[in-house]
Amino acid sequence: MNIVILAAGQGKRMRSSLPKVLHCVAGRPMLAHVIAAARAACTDVANITVVVGHGAGAVQEAFPGEPGLNFVLQEPQLGTGHAVMQAVPRLDDSAPTLVLYGDVPLITAGTLRRLLAAAGKGVGLLTVRLPDPTGYGRIVRDERGDVLRSVEQRDASAAEQAIDEVNTGIMVAPTARLKDWLKTLSRDNAQGEYYLTDIIARAVQQGVRVAAVVCDGAEETLGVNSKQQLAQVERIAQRRTAQALMEGGVTLADPERIDVRGELVVGADVSIDVGCVFEGRVSLADGVRIGAYCVLRDCSVGPHTEFLPFCHATDAMVGAGARIGPYARFRPGARIEDDVHVGNFVEIKGSTMGRGSKANHLAYVGDTTVGQNVNIGAGTITANYDGVNKYRTVIGDGAFIGSNSVLVAPVNIGAGATIAGGSTIAKDAPAGKLTVARARQVTLEHWKRPVKQKKG
Ligand code: UD1
Ligand code: MG
Repeated sequence: MNIVILAAGQGKRMRSSLPKVLHCVAGRPMLAHVIAAARAACTDVANITVVVGHGAGAVQEAFPGEPGLNFVLQEPQLGTGHAVMQAVPRLDDSAPTLVLYGDVPLITAGTLRRLLAAAGKGVGLLTVRLPDPTGYGRIVRDERGDVLRSVEQRDASAAEQAIDEVNTGIMVAPTARLKDWLKTLSRDNAQGEYYLTDIIARAVQQGVRVAAVVCDGAEETLGVNSKQQLAQVERIAQRRTAQALMEGGVTLADPERIDVRGELVVGADVSIDVGCVFEGRVSLADGVRIGAYCVLRDCSVGPHTEFLPFCHATDAMVGAGARIGPYARFRPGARIEDDVHVGNFVEIKGSTMGRGSKANHLAYVGDTTVGQNVNIGAGTITANYDGVNKYRTVIGDGAFIGSNSVLVAPVNIGAGATIAGGSTIAKDAPAGKLTVARARQVTLEHWKRPVKQKKG
């Protein structure tokens, strides 16, 4: 199969410097969704040609090294037929050509498969019935119901404008024929453009069968031309993901209040409370519970771990049976092993928290290897940065770090060591001993509070 994706349009109404097809739906550029649907629908994708125009360089750069993907420039843009003409040198005559649109991101592989099957060796046209067809090309059929042509709104008679079946633009055609038909297109129409849709009438004239497949519902074929439509399409995409998650057994407190901007992989009996955002690739193992308003990006979470509300985690690995939050923050390189507890206002970066360790309140653990069953008291800070370089802290198994300690890296806290609260530890603390590093407390027996002196 040859795939041609039209993506040359400017998208003026987006009011953005970003090319339209690079605007994201569910965390990926619209064009990426279209490419994925095409690949999923066709077992034999020979090549994918993206016709670019406005912002061509940026579009191309957004898909580096993707196999089988070509870009051709359409400059100037003289219509959809003209766009497909630019792809002609790339098209292999021995396979059909499927035309898709970079700004129609919700199209599903299932619908495309249905279209390809219906088309067979002829032409397939995806249509949809709209309560208000204004602005779209109308599908003109004969009295037997066979498709005759597709006529643009501005070229249509009053009778044709009353037709509610419209052209989605998505079509498949035998490639050699398509190339011939494209040569016959003219700009003799209301918009002075080369209309791709005119190939329908050519096919009919030449006795090539045109199968029109009516899409179930208009959602899949929505095109994005404005931020309003982008938001509408985003909602639909999110709803689809939520449905798929629930079909897979996930409990969602409210399917309208979850956002998956990437890939969320889930085990059995996962539950997700409202307002959570998942970005990049997130995996949640069996029995994971995610509390309200958590944001997780590129994380994996082990079985039966619970995130309490309002946690934020990026590039973190969390083991099994851990309890995280509320209000915990994991920055890149946080490795949280099994049965760890991390509580409110604890930030962990570039650090491992060994099995069974706890940091329950108000701490910063950066560039640190924390052993197993360590207790990190409230207010503990690893001072990992001297303003220029970063250093590591190592805390041995079973250590107890008293509250409000500063561990000045590089420093080692031995296994089973106890650090007295309020210590500033700048030298290694030996294993199994109490280390105190703070001013000694004194009480002045004869001290008296000053007394206010009388004036004059
Ligand atoms: C087109 C169809 C119309 C259909 C409608 C569905 C034609 C002549 N008309 O209309 O029947 O109902 O889509 O939305 O095909 N593009 C290019 N280069 C160009 C022109 C367009 O790449 O020179 C791309 C645009 O970026 C866009 C797509 O093709 O993604 C459709 O173009 P647009 O102008 O929006 O199509 P319509 O004229 O609305
Ligand atoms: Mg147009």
